[in-house]
Amino acid sequence: MNLPPFKLERYFAKYEFNTEFLLCSSDCEAMSIADLLALEEGAAEKFQNTWLGYTESQGSPTLRKEICNLYTNMQPEHILVHTGAGEAIYLFMQAMFKKGDHIIVHTPSYQSLSEVAKGIGCDISPWLAREENNWALDLDEVGHLMRSNTKAIVINTPHNPTGYLMSRADFDALNKFAQENKLLLFADEVYRESEYDPETRLPAAYDYGEHAVSLGVTSKTYGLAGLRIGWIATKNKKVYDSMAALKDYTTICNSAPSEFLAEVAMRNRQKLIDRNLGIIKHNLTIIDDLFSRHADLFSWVRPKAGSMGFPRLLKGSVDEFCDDLVRKAGVLLLPGTMYDDSRNHFRLGLGRKNLPNAVERLEDYLPKINNSGG
Ligand SMILES: Cc1ncc(COP(=O)(O)O)c(C=O)c1O
Repeated sequence: MNLPPFKLERYFAKYEFNTEFLLCSSDCEAMSIADLLALEEGAAEKFQNTWLGYTESQGSPTLRKEICNLYTNMQPEHILVHTGAGEAIYLFMQAMFKKGDHIIVHTPSYQSLSEVAKGIGCDISPWLAREENNWALDLDEVGHLMRSNTKAIVINTPHNPTGYLMSRADFDALNKFAQENKLLLFADEVYRESEYDPETRLPAAYDYGEHAVSLGVTSKTYGLAGLRIGWIATKNKKVYDSMAALKDYTTICNSAPSEFLAEVAMRNRQKLIDRNLGIIKHNLTIIDDLFSRHADLFSWVRPKAGSMGFPRLLKGSVDEFCDDLVRKAGVLLLPGTMYDDSRNHFRLGLGRKNLPNAVERLEDYLPKINNSGG
């Protein structure tokens, strides 16, 4: 298989650990092991006694039991734990797709959601989210994109990078469409539980039936990317067994300390959600103010969930803007070209505590682009 460089990851590799302000992170503020363990009495001592042998390949039974609480009527044997969501995306596509399959992919997308399928030799049809529709997907379009060899639809809601959250009616209709047309629905739900209005939270695709695969992770809503614990939830035995068989060739099983810590995190996830949504909502007020003061420079569709938005620069080139900003002001934004977006958008992260200082620095820099025109 021929995989091109993962543009976004290469961009981060260049700047992530040497730039003062990361204003485009996709995850929420992390915490230390000590702070996580402090959420639960006795957890610190138990962690010290974690056994460092191989663990169960599907994920530890107690972790899977905690993950079950994210879904309705979930059974632990429907969860397969992975090393991050990234491994699960890779294994799902390797296990279920073959050359010549046609796949419909929510676009723009986190690169691996289309690239792995492309690398296998699948034909990809982008299902385009448009700023002028507030980044909503148009359900009518998916019918037009369908072909006789369509195998799956890949969606991501809440969405990276736009913060779009599909409506309940559309999600119901999409699941029905996939079921009626015998398609797999791979639902990247790594930002689930970060809806700004909890009433708008969608059921997990898992809950709709065997056609669906739900993807989750500790990295995003819960702010624990360093654990590298992700999972899929599916009632589809063929998908489950095929992915499990491939996992024997990648990571075999998960890190025992990470599984323990992920279990504590999942048991206490409401505390993590409250903390992280508190940070996001505070940051959103600052960003709303920033964009209202600079409406001549930026267009802004306010996200409905998650820790990102995808504003558009109205003057000059976004690549040059991001490059100049990081070099002169030490503030990292992610140009939309990393998502193959050609309309001057950039990714803005909302989940970090230092956003107010980063925005101050950004605003000090802005007169320079106004003066130079670009
Ligand atoms: C939509 C989406 N899916 C999957 C992933 C991969 O998550 P992880 O890095 O925790 O494996 C990311 C990470 O940015 C993401 O944004």
